[in-house]
Amino acid sequence: MSARRRLGARWRRRRPLRTRLAVMAAAAVAVVAIGVCAAAFFVIRFKLYQQLDQNLAQSATLIAQQHHAEGPGVVTGECRFLGAPACSQVVPANRAADPAKPYLLPVTEPTRAVADGRRAPYYANFTLPGGKPGRMFTTTFGKGEAVQVALRADIAERGVRQAASLLSAVGGAGVLLSAVGGYWVSRTGLAPITRLTATAERIAATRDARHRIELPPGPPGREGHEDEVTRLATTFNTMLAELEESVAARRRLVADASHELRTPLTALRTNAELLAKADLLTDAQRDRASGALGRQLREVTGLVNDLIELAREAEPQPLLEEVRLAPLTVHAVDAARGHWPAVPFTLRVARDAEGLCVPGVAARLSRLLTNLLDNAAKFSPPGAPVEVSLTATALTVRDHGPGIAEEDLPYVFDRFYRAEKARALPGSGLGLAMARQIAHAHGAELTAERAPGGGALFRLVLPVG
Ligand SMILES: Nc1ncnc2c1ncn2[C@@H]1O[C@H](COP(=O)(O)OP(=O)(O)O)[C@@H](O)[C@H]1O
Ligand SMILES: [Mg+2]
Repeated sequence: MSARRRLGARWRRRRPLRTRLAVMAAAAVAVVAIGVCAAAFFVIRFKLYQQLDQNLAQSATLIAQQHHAEGPGVVTGECRFLGAPACSQVVPANRAADPAKPYLLPVTEPTRAVADGRRAPYYANFTLPGGKPGRMFTTTFGKGEAVQVALRADIAERGVRQAASLLSAVGGAGVLLSAVGGYWVSRTGLAPITRLTATAERIAATRDARHRIELPPGPPGREGHEDEVTRLATTFNTMLAELEESVAARRRLVADASHELRTPLTALRTNAELLAKADLLTDAQRDRASGALGRQLREVTGLVNDLIELAREAEPQPLLEEVRLAPLTVHAVDAARGHWPAVPFTLRVARDAEGLCVPGVAARLSRLLTNLLDNAAKFSPPGAPVEVSLTATALTVRDHGPGIAEEDLPYVFDRFYRAEKARALPGSGLGLAMARQIAHAHGAELTAERAPGGGALFRLVLPVG
């Protein structure tokens, strides 16, 4: 049993799905074809003999009526001819009572058993002396006697033979057709899977996610009305599109980053080369060069750190937790106060926002907030307040600086984008890109506006529920 199961498992492992499906479909159809043919054969045979058996039973009744007084021995003549009436004989239970004349029909132990009532009447096929097929009915006659009635069975016999050969031909054709059908079913049924496999293999080999699986022509089926393979192919294509997008996004990030790093690195090298010839410089020149070098180094470091942050696309699932926003905001504002002592920060937390929780990563959310607060402080004129407010649905950061020009508004969240006027201030242009990315990862929406009365207003709309 277990050996057979192991064998089956090995068979399943070795054969390709297509062969397995073809063999299984063919086998199922073949079993049905053979079963139907066998059933038809038995029904036909039963019907053919039923007629004959009824004749025999009638003859037996007739003989019992007409010859009940006769003793053992042959009652009616030979049944050598096709159309001849039934031949019959009476057989005693006791062998000693047998007549002197030989019997016409074969007398066996079951015949005697019927005669003395030990056995029920029965039908049997036998061969007539001339080699022709016959059918015989044995039933009880008088007390301790049996009557045997026989007829030639050529017609029934021939019918059965013909039925057998015809039905085996039909069954054989059925098996052949089922083999062809199984092959066809597996070919057409698995064609989309074959295409899917080929596409997946091509992508694995070329590492090119631009390939797509061809979907069946025609309008896409309504939701839930497509077959499984089409749905699988659609899902696979969606996945490929996302993969392609993600690969492209990373490629853009790397291209942008190397482009943006080139300028500060060139400046850095110039200053480093200048300092290498320090003995040719005046003290003032040396101080200026080393100051610039330090600043540029910090800038590049900041840029690289921001890039690393930005490259982390999705939040790792295990770090997700319920983050309480009110304390997180308080903490971020306190940190900003320490960082920008000259800027007065005001914080207002609405009463219904005090217990507000969102699922997310606390460190990332506070990074988002820090980026907004840093920008606000950076662009604020001396002494102007930065106003932070948290309600149950949104978090806003507003400053009284120059604000964002109308034409810059669509771009401030782009990577490395810095408005004309902001280029003099330190920064990488990555802060807002990162902030928006963190917001999206948390299901929130981050937007920039021009605040009424001047200044910039950043609004983080929280996911509700
Ligand atoms: N509070 C603000 N006031 C005015 N302009 C802003 C403000 N915040 C951001 N910006 C504009 O958006 C640009 C992108 O901001 P950000 O991505 O943080 O880069 P960075 O701060 O490094 O310049 C800034 O260069 C500036 O032009
Ligand atoms: Mg910034």
